[in-house]
Amino acid sequence: MGRVICVCNQKGGVGKTTTAINLASCMALSEKRSLVIDMDPQANASSGLGVRLSSGEPSVYDFLLADEPYAHIVKPTALAYLDLLPSTQDLTGAEVELVAVRGRERMLRDAIAALIIRYDYIFVDCPPSLGFLTLNALVAADSVLVPIQCEYYALEGVGSLLKTIRRVQAALNASLTIEGFLLTMFDARNNLSHQVAQDVRKNLAHQVFAAVIPRNVKLSESPSFGKPVVLYDITSRGAVSYLALAKEIMDAEDERNVQKTAGVGARS
Ligand SMILES: Nc1ncnc2c1ncn2[C@@H]1O[C@H](COP(=O)(O)OP(=O)(O)OP(=O)(O)O)[C@@H](O)[C@H]1O
Ligand SMILES: [Mg+2]
Repeated sequence: MGRVICVCNQKGGVGKTTTAINLASCMALSEKRSLVIDMDPQANASSGLGVRLSSGEPSVYDFLLADEPYAHIVKPTALAYLDLLPSTQDLTGAEVELVAVRGRERMLRDAIAALIIRYDYIFVDCPPSLGFLTLNALVAADSVLVPIQCEYYALEGVGSLLKTIRRVQAALNASLTIEGFLLTMFDARNNLSHQVAQDVRKNLAHQVFAAVIPRNVKLSESPSFGKPVVLYDITSRGAVSYLALAKEIMDAEDERNVQKTAGVGARS
């Protein structure tokens, strides 16, 4: 069964999309069957992986609201183990249209139920808001990964995100966990970056990933070529840091599986 990780922070421009596409690509390089679901009408994850659809072409919108089969929508990428469910600006309408639909918070969860078996990791790239699209991602997910930009007001909004996560856990998805908080755009020469990183680690303690994503020009250039950074410059600091993050997440999953097996052994 694949692990569904939702990349979420209602603050804009903190590195959600960069993280979703590059982390998924690193998983794919490790031969983990991976899928990126673009839940943002800005469609940055789609273009960043080389897919640009026009409005009206089958997309995540149709997958969620028109029962369009997955096979009509899924796109291959330049990496053998990585697929994409692309979005278009049509998804903007979903926020409004979903208001009238019964079970509207569970639409993504229901839509991907049959897919989970095909993948080891599914990453959902969320828009910068806590609307229905993000709520759908949280209800569909096993865990949430929260990128935090090493800038002023880094923790702004994290309180309301945590409150939303707790509400989802209480009412809609009891097994939702926090995969971790990820420091992004860290600039080692800048005192502020160090201060923010320290502050985040003090406040969120063991939930912060050891891997830190540096500010790195290769990460901002690669989407314009429709490529993840590992195919653009695998030796860049950006690529190396996302490879380290992927390893950290895979190791954590192995550790959980060992504990689960040990738990079963102890009971039998
Ligand atoms: N580590 C990094 N180093 C340099 N540039 C980065 C880094 N991470 C992201 N960027 C750039 O910063 C901008 C915002 O990043 P990104 O699109 O990933 O954020 P986002 O949280 O998905 O934004 P939105 O809220 O609009 O969806 C992009 O231009 C991206 O290329
Ligand atoms: Mg984005």
